[in-house]
Amino acid sequence: EKKLKESTGLISAIFEHVEAGIVLIDSATHTIVNANRMAVEMCGATKEALIGKICHKYICPAAAGDCPLTDCGQSIDKAEQVLLTTDGREIPVLKTAVPVRIAERDYLLESFIDMTERKRLESQLLQAQKMEAIGTLAGGIAHDFNNILMGIQGIASLMMLDFDPSQPQYERLKLIEDQVKRGADLTKQLLGFARGGRYEVKPTNINEIIEKSSSMFGRTRKEIAVHRKYEKDIWTLEVDQGQMEQVFLNLYVNAWQAMPGGGSIYLETQNVVLEEHDHLPGLNRPGRYVKVSVSDTGMGMDEKTRERIFDPFFTTKGIGRGTGLGLAMVYGIIKGHGGVIHVYSEPGHGTTFHIHLPASEKSVVKEKTVSGAILKGTETILLVDDEKMVLEVSKEILESLGYRVFAAGSGQEAIGVYMEKKGRIDLVILDMIMPGMSGGETFDRLREIHPGIAVLLSSGYSVNGQAQEILDRGCRGFLQKPFTTEILSKKIRETLNV
Ligand SMILES: Nc1ncnc2c1ncn2[C@@H]1O[C@H](COP(=O)(O)OP(=O)(O)OP(=O)(O)O)[C@@H](O)[C@H]1O
Ligand SMILES: [Mg+2]
Repeated sequence: EKKLKESTGLISAIFEHVEAGIVLIDSATHTIVNANRMAVEMCGATKEALIGKICHKYICPAAAGDCPLTDCGQSIDKAEQVLLTTDGREIPVLKTAVPVRIAERDYLLESFIDMTERKRLESQLLQAQKMEAIGTLAGGIAHDFNNILMGIQGIASLMMLDFDPSQPQYERLKLIEDQVKRGADLTKQLLGFARGGRYEVKPTNINEIIEKSSSMFGRTRKEIAVHRKYEKDIWTLEVDQGQMEQVFLNLYVNAWQAMPGGGSIYLETQNVVLEEHDHLPGLNRPGRYVKVSVSDTGMGMDEKTRERIFDPFFTTKGIGRGTGLGLAMVYGIIKGHGGVIHVYSEPGHGTTFHIHLPASEKSVVKEKTVSGAILKGTETILLVDDEKMVLEVSKEILESLGYRVFAAGSGQEAIGVYMEKKGRIDLVILDMIMPGMSGGETFDRLREIHPGIAVLLSSGYSVNGQAQEILDRGCRGFLQKPFTTEILSKKIRETLNV
């Protein structure tokens, strides 16, 4: 008898404390005769309320009135079903049910576990995979387009050298440059959410980026009041400043578009420490973060819109008004910086975006600004690019700036030229993505030959933060294609004057 008591005690302890809902159903009457703590909790009821009820009121509501289990004696093993709570919510569960016979009576023993968290993770993973696939595609397209734009830009720049600014042709060439710039802005957006498309990461005070971008924005949109609340000693972030500006401008523009009659934008920055238990979807590392919030008093969004806003090409703005790339780019950039973005919005109650970015230990460096003029020089430059068009026009542009130029169409060729002209080359402008020996490899080989070598990396794209890796290995600067003569001339001086 003692044994019996012991085992009954054990069974009831398991029944009450196991992390799965368990209910016992009378097969003849379909009523719940017993339910454990977890089952009661999941249904959001009390044990008293549950017992005696028809099972499909809570469990598998879909099978109401026609139950394959009790009526045909079947069993189910780990089926995905839903549970109905007392307040009408559906909880996805993984369920197992077996018929049992206790004291000459037939019952059904059902156990189920809550799948809400798993479902959420699944959809998060799906979303991440989708973004990654599109990102790879976008990056490839952007890279090729930037090379084409570089060719057009280069030819236009060269032609402009031959014309006096007073001639009508000069104006037309300027228009070509404008169009190239538009094209480059679009590829920049594509690169924004492409994998690892970040270029120039610098220790940055995010308050300054927000101040700069929001005042630029506010000046042109008088119907919007911008309120700012900055954390005074904001932690440093290591970010690509141009990309961060794009992130905020996109958020402001969306906010403005959501407030056709005018309204307010609230900007706030904060230092936050996330602990292990502050579970923030998408972030699993505890530590120091900078949190930036952008809120508006606009029309808000319903759930269906909210779920899709980060999808590339998702827009509610009608053909010709929005491309739906804004938030996809924002998402990609934030993710590329190791951060996360979350949205809170209700129809009619405005929208808030929270961005968390990992803080850095470094301190902010002040930029020295170079004037807008074209800067010339007389040094010798080795130019490396596999695109013939880019190589030819860039060579001519460099020569027009006064430089002596050797051109190489591949990494191998570049090494050859460098060995031959040893000591006479002051700067190498190196394309990153080339067939055969890549820019990264070429850089490493050149550095073996001359450890202090000055190299300016150029690319229409950066794969997997590859550009950043090369910069970290001692490459002096990055040149985003397509570039104008002015930018090229500045970058060269910056690189040579360090
Ligand atoms: N602050 C906001 N308030 C209300 N809805 C918003 C807000 N921000 C974004 N949305 C919704 O998310 C959609 C996607 O935004 P996203 O910036 O990606 O594209 P878009 O603004 O439509 O086009 P694009 O930015 O390419 O010009 C918008 O069409 C809009 O429905
Ligand atoms: Mg937008």
